[in-house]
Amino acid sequence: MTLFPGVAITTGAASGIGRAIALAFATAGYQGITIADRLAEGLAQTQELIAKEAPNAAVETIVIDVAQLESVIAMAVCTVARWGRIDLTVNVAGIQGPAQRSTALTLDEFDGIQKRQLSWSMAYSKENIRINCVCPGLVEYMFSLLPVSFEEQRKFFAPAIAIAPINRMGQPSEIADVCLFLCSSKASLVQGASMVADGGYMIN
Ligand SMILES: NC(=O)c1ccc[n+]([C@@H]2O[C@H](COP(=O)([O-])OP(=O)(O)OC[C@H]3O[C@@H](n4cnc5c(N)ncnc54)[C@H](O)[C@@H]3O)[C@@H](O)[C@H]2O)c1
Repeated sequence: MTLFPGVAITTGAASGIGRAIALAFATAGYQGITIADRLAEGLAQTQELIAKEAPNAAVETIVIDVAQLESVIAMAVCTVARWGRIDLTVNVAGIQGPAQRSTALTLDEFDGIQKRQLSWSMAYSKENIRINCVCPGLVEYMFSLLPVSFEEQRKFFAPAIAIAPINRMGQPSEIADVCLFLCSSKASLVQGASMVADGGYMIN
């Protein structure tokens, strides 16, 4: 019996971490996967990759803007129309915000996302819906931030990479592995957690 039953949605699936998660889900054997992003071309590449690596996976593709409510609703509607259910979503779509000192942020900006995650985790527990968060360190393929080769990225980020005791950038697939665990029945008691996957960057 699979640890990964049901239907999954992954946003930000046109590249990087989101693409790796979509591929991991497809290989793990979910019944269906919706891949969503604002970049149609990248989504098509992800779909091709899945077709090659997991030919039996059923994939729905939708171009959306996660900042537009109607767009997010359309993603849910298209998934339910095809499979009649949604078991989990991994929300990866996003861009790196401007780098600034914490003192330049309002308190809400600083801890807004985590607070929201915790309050949703409390509220949805009754319905057996788990909400967790993954905190990556430096992961290769940050093309929206730095559209250059991996080699150049490694050089550019060398001082930051050296902070993590593991002393290398992460691979998108390593973040996908953490998401697979959190989305599986093996994580049935994990609720409201922020799982750090950064090679030790935060502890140093
Ligand atoms: N790569 C890292 O080192 C790292 C570290 C920490 C956090 N993150 C965060 O993780 C997320 C994924 O990172 P990545 O390296 O895969 O980046 P990426 O740029 O390769 O992928 C982000 C994807 O999100 C999509 N996207 C952005 N805004 C969107 C919108 N409004 N609607 C729909 N799609 C949208 C982009 O088109 C892109 O395909 C980002 O939010 C990033 O800030 C990345």
